[in-house]
Amino acid sequence: MIWGETLGKSLVPGDIVLLFGDLGAGKTTLTHGICKGLGLPEGEYIRSPTFTLINEYQGKFPIYHIDLYRMENLEEMEALGLEEVLFGNGVSIVEWSEKLFPVDSPQGPLFGIDARIEIRITYENEFQRKFTIQPVGLPARSFPDFSLQ
Ligand SMILES: Nc1ncnc2c1ncn2[C@@H]1O[C@H](COP(=O)(O)OP(=O)(O)O)[C@@H](O)[C@H]1O
Ligand SMILES: [Mg+2]
Repeated sequence: MIWGETLGKSLVPGDIVLLFGDLGAGKTTLTHGICKGLGLPEGEYIRSPTFTLINEYQGKFPIYHIDLYRMENLEEMEALGLEEVLFGNGVSIVEWSEKLFPVDSPQGPLFGIDARIEIRITYENEFQRKFTIQPVGLPARSFPDFSLQ
């Protein structure tokens, strides 16, 4: 996961990375790469926070790895303390970000998240995934160029 690591190196506290993609797309694997780029020690094991909902790691900055799969509505996400985490002093990486875009809230993501990096992952075949990376609402910053990778 070379490019995930490169992306991780470019992140700063307060950044929100929203991951979209089905089960098995590669969200947790990508998170692992990003965490590595954020300075998480090599041996640290990243697991889907499907039951814990939020895992906290300490890299260069606090890293919050969030899984919204089980979240049914805004109230549940509020109860989780998601807002404090997202707008806190760490880097947040969110699996199942689809949940932040409910159909009855078409004006944008919940919690008024404006600046974020959206990454959509699709399964091409057993060995290949397709990634679409879109920074939204972020002030000018040089992101790594993945075009040659
Ligand atoms: N970029 C990739 N290329 C090939 N296989 C991948 C890639 N990312 C993940 N996988 C494989 O896909 C499976 C599911 O990955 P995982 O990261 O757990 O998905 P998700 O968190 O989206 O459910 C794992 O077996 C993993 O090894
Ligand atoms: Mg996962």
